[in-house]
Amino acid sequence: MQLKIDYSNVMNANIGAKHGLAESDFDKLIPAGKKILQDLRQKAKDNKLGFYKLPSQFDIADELESYASVVKKRFENYVHIGIGGSALGSIALQNSLLDSYYNLNNSPKMFFPDNVDPDWLNDLVKNIDVSKTLFHIVSKSGGTAETAATTLYFMKFLTDTLGDNFYKNLLFTTDPVKGLLNQIAREYPIKCFRIPPSVGGRFSVLSSVGLISAAIAGIDVKKLLSGAAEMAEKCDNENLKKNPAFIYAAIHYIYMTRGKNISVMMPYSNKLRDMADWYRQLWAESLGKRYDNEGNVVEVGQTPVKALGTTDQHSQVQLYVEGPNDKLITFLEVEKFKENLQLKNHFTYIHEFDYLAGKTLGELLNAEKMATELALSNNHRPNLTIKFSEVSEENIGAFFFLLEAATAFAGGLLNIDAFNQPGVEEGKIATYALMGRKGYEQKKKDIETLFNKKQAFML
Ligand code: PA5
Repeated sequence: MQLKIDYSNVMNANIGAKHGLAESDFDKLIPAGKKILQDLRQKAKDNKLGFYKLPSQFDIADELESYASVVKKRFENYVHIGIGGSALGSIALQNSLLDSYYNLNNSPKMFFPDNVDPDWLNDLVKNIDVSKTLFHIVSKSGGTAETAATTLYFMKFLTDTLGDNFYKNLLFTTDPVKGLLNQIAREYPIKCFRIPPSVGGRFSVLSSVGLISAAIAGIDVKKLLSGAAEMAEKCDNENLKKNPAFIYAAIHYIYMTRGKNISVMMPYSNKLRDMADWYRQLWAESLGKRYDNEGNVVEVGQTPVKALGTTDQHSQVQLYVEGPNDKLITFLEVEKFKENLQLKNHFTYIHEFDYLAGKTLGELLNAEKMATELALSNNHRPNLTIKFSEVSEENIGAFFFLLEAATAFAGGLLNIDAFNQPGVEEGKIATYALMGRKGYEQKKKDIETLFNKKQAFML
């Protein structure tokens, strides 16, 4: 595993004292950081911080791999039904480690419909043979409206084609005991994998939530876990200045306290593009909180934004370089691409192309990244880079763990609970009410009153 953080461009020396950090800024956070590390260790020991333990679950990897080999023989398609933490990590895993056009030449073809857009779902069902499709329903709570609705939608096609045997094409990943999926699994012999209760949705990618689809698509889950395990050790380092999770969290925390409330993640790699999507949820849902641990209203958080290099150099970078200095940019850089596509100037009479001849596309991509980094730094805009020696299972596993541990440290520094999501729950409850779920009648009335008032301001 070779994943490194280069944070020289947040330091005074590179971006100036007004927007840069001094060593002493980190020193001040060391006592709090040490306490947070002790708390995290204690919680992990008490089985309250499940994601800490996921990298060492090698026995699960064996079970998943043998299940995956059966799936590969039986099914033409795999459809992953889940949303938020039950989908984003799996999508990021697939898109980083598989051939970008995997579905054109491989089986089972992999689909991740993580929204209830009827046209999108209908397009999927029209294009697959449902009887040869495994539907993997992933929901920790077992009751999320979007996941339930998508499942019910596909159930019609499953029962139409398979009748009473529909359950043979279902796989559940859910809580060990609680939730509606468990009720269904008590009626039918449906294969179930479990999400440990102490693993929160957005911290669950290295559990069966993310690893089943990975194993089915041929990703080496043991390598993923071993990369994560190596990173877990680094993130447990008591010498906090050498602890990458603490350093990432401390940098972000300091800038939050200085009004830089936007965290842009900008991979210079299409393969890593969805890592930024996964990070967006992790950082937003974990740190965006109204109350601190003592119940005071603090309304903290940092808005995560995703961008893609070089594509967004032609869309966002003007704003990042010259607009409000309210952002902290994290680049993701790949040092060694799988293919080094070398260019040749076929139009020798056009000398303006000569500078590209003999260069590789990877060189160009990374030169452009460096150019953006320079432009930002010259304009006193803090930025750091997470460097992947290559896009490999080990580095992807390490990346997931690094950002999860950094989120836990950032939650500690902000003195908030990074592991709950009351705002999301509020939205889930309002959806149940609006859709007429039993027990939510009063909530429905309250919502209708609120929306009726708003009619006055409609044009
Ligand atoms: O991180 C979280 O907890 C959420 O994003 C959940 O993953 C998401 O709401 C889906 O929940 P569930 O897995 O219970 O269906």
